Amino acid sequence: MATDGGLLHGKAVVVTAGGTREPIDPVRFLGNRSSGKMGNALAHAARDAGARVHLITTVSAPADLTGITTEAVGTADQMNTAVHAALKPGSILIMAAAVADYRVESVAPDKIHKTEAGLTLHLVPTIDILKGLAHDPVREQVFIVGFAAETNDAIASGQSKVRAKNLDLCVINDVSIPGIGMGADDNAVTIVDKDGIVDEMARAPKDVVAREIIRVIASRLPART
Ligand code: CTP
Repeated sequence: MATDGGLLHGKAVVVTAGGTREPIDPVRFLGNRSSGKMGNALAHAARDAGARVHLITTVSAPADLTGITTEAVGTADQMNTAVHAALKPGSILIMAAAVADYRVESVAPDKIHKTEAGLTLHLVPTIDILKGLAHDPVREQVFIVGFAAETNDAIASGQSKVRAKNLDLCVINDVSIPGIGMGADDNAVTIVDKDGIVDEMARAPKDVVAREIIRVIASRLPART
């Protein structure tokens, strides 16, 4: 199965994909435009590089699941629980999911009906999965890759996420450029670590970008993983 030189042979890789859905009532949710394509492509690329892959996803799983364990989740909270359960010492975590930043404070038990008065929803922050891991005992035994979808000052924002979330690498994509990023088939990314730019990839199909991200991750793994 390993067609990419076995770069991650024997490694355990946890990938998150898609946008979380935060319920408002039984029929509505807060969500975002993430399609899960980048996360799916990363799961395939990690599998092809010889890894055991656990894909935690809010969207339809990829068609070719050989060698990939998938787990369906909906909310940020459910994704957080699944990530913690899946991570083991030596794992690689690739957080490609677009986790919602806010959820409704109290979910309505019944469908909210329309009124002329309008509707105000009180939103509270979701759990930040990567920030929570930053100080977790497992942190030092896991290689963590975050993603940053940015519209301005992309490199600076990505680097501040490396620091704030204690990431080994951050994959930045500029979602203000038409045709790449969220929902698109192509992506163009810059990978940074705490010291600066590690790699830059011009626009390419997401499976090509995913293979390059996996190559960079493999080249940066410390001996412990
Ligand atoms: N992330 C997370 N938990 C959240 C929000 C984001 O773990 N509640 C992860 C994402 O999966 C991604 C990284 O953090 O790998 C950066 O996500 P992003 O949405 O770009 O950053 P935020 O921290 O949410 O900051 P902002 O939306 O203000 O840019």
